[in-house]
Amino acid sequence: MASQRIRRIGVLTGGGDCPGLNAVIRAVVKTAIREYNLSVIGFENGFGGLIQNRARELTEKDVVGILPRGGTILGTTNRDNPFHYPVTIKGKTEFRDVSDRVIENINIHDIDALIVIGGDGSLTIAKKLFEEKGLPVVGVPKTIDNDLSATDQTFGFDTALTTATEAIDKLHTTAESHHRVMVLEVMGRYAGWIALQSGLAGGADVILIPEIPYLIERVIDKIMDRQASGKKFSIVVAAEGAREVGGQMVVQRMVPNSFEPVRLGGIGNVLVKQIEEGTGMEARVTVLGHLQRGGSPTAFDRVLATRYGAGAVNLVMAGRFGEMVCLRTPEIKSVALAEAVGELRLVPIDGDLVRTARQVGISFGD
Ligand code: F6P
Repeated sequence: MASQRIRRIGVLTGGGDCPGLNAVIRAVVKTAIREYNLSVIGFENGFGGLIQNRARELTEKDVVGILPRGGTILGTTNRDNPFHYPVTIKGKTEFRDVSDRVIENINIHDIDALIVIGGDGSLTIAKKLFEEKGLPVVGVPKTIDNDLSATDQTFGFDTALTTATEAIDKLHTTAESHHRVMVLEVMGRYAGWIALQSGLAGGADVILIPEIPYLIERVIDKIMDRQASGKKFSIVVAAEGAREVGGQMVVQRMVPNSFEPVRLGGIGNVLVKQIEEGTGMEARVTVLGHLQRGGSPTAFDRVLATRYGAGAVNLVMAGRFGEMVCLRTPEIKSVALAEAVGELRLVPIDGDLVRTARQVGISFGD
């Protein structure tokens, strides 16, 4: 491992899939081979592939045509944490630290550095492998939630935002024709970026985000005010993490062994009931779900993902291990993984986006 000269690098995608993963892989492979004459090994299904030694060489041929494709050609998972890995002993599942296996497999493939493309969970593991096992790691920030601190933007967010905005445009027609309240529930986990920006882009009337707890009375007031002024429909965009003042986020399920076991979801149904009761109007919910993670990345995400992929290889060649590429508009820079993980980037409630939304009449239910 980690010979002075870098000859071969590994790459994996971890956590939830996200538009632009393939664009990063493509840029890593092309930059590594063309610019630095390296070979590249891809590990399958996130850290699972590193633990179970499922790996294959990636050549330029393997990345032909993948730039516009969603998903990841390597596969991914948000389970398989090498520091907390389930093993079955005498029919019972126990959790073990199998990180030594990661190092063994890295050595088997003669890999000098590993590029981890992932969100907070995967990058936290990458940081631990760097700090505790001395694995030369470089990170690439991925998530549709856009909630990683230390970068202006993660790739995948712009595509999710575009999908959510298109959904709002489509919901407008039914809302208007049927004089209904249409509620759109979007992803984002504990951050309201997708809800806020799609709501702004799609002309929502109410946006509910985790950072600004709402009062249902205020939401109802807004809808009734619109009614009174002759606007017989309303659009409400709710982040999955939105919650009432003094209330809890709505949890859909728990996923054991996941880096992030809590799955939010269900706020849209709660809101529809409350809105129908409070306004006497008909309301419907659309839960956009994984449509936000699928499909072809936008041009913005393709460019960002390509810059991140090439930037990650440049970091490896500069020996900048334990760091992550990041966007400091307009430049691609890097930051220590230790600084990049752990702290979520939430919507600033007094920031320009929220202020602008309020100025154009959007209610946050507060
Ligand atoms: O972090 C990305 C994300 O899509 C969140 O917005 C969402 O809460 C979660 O992952 C869903 O995870 P899963 O695909 O495991 O249901």
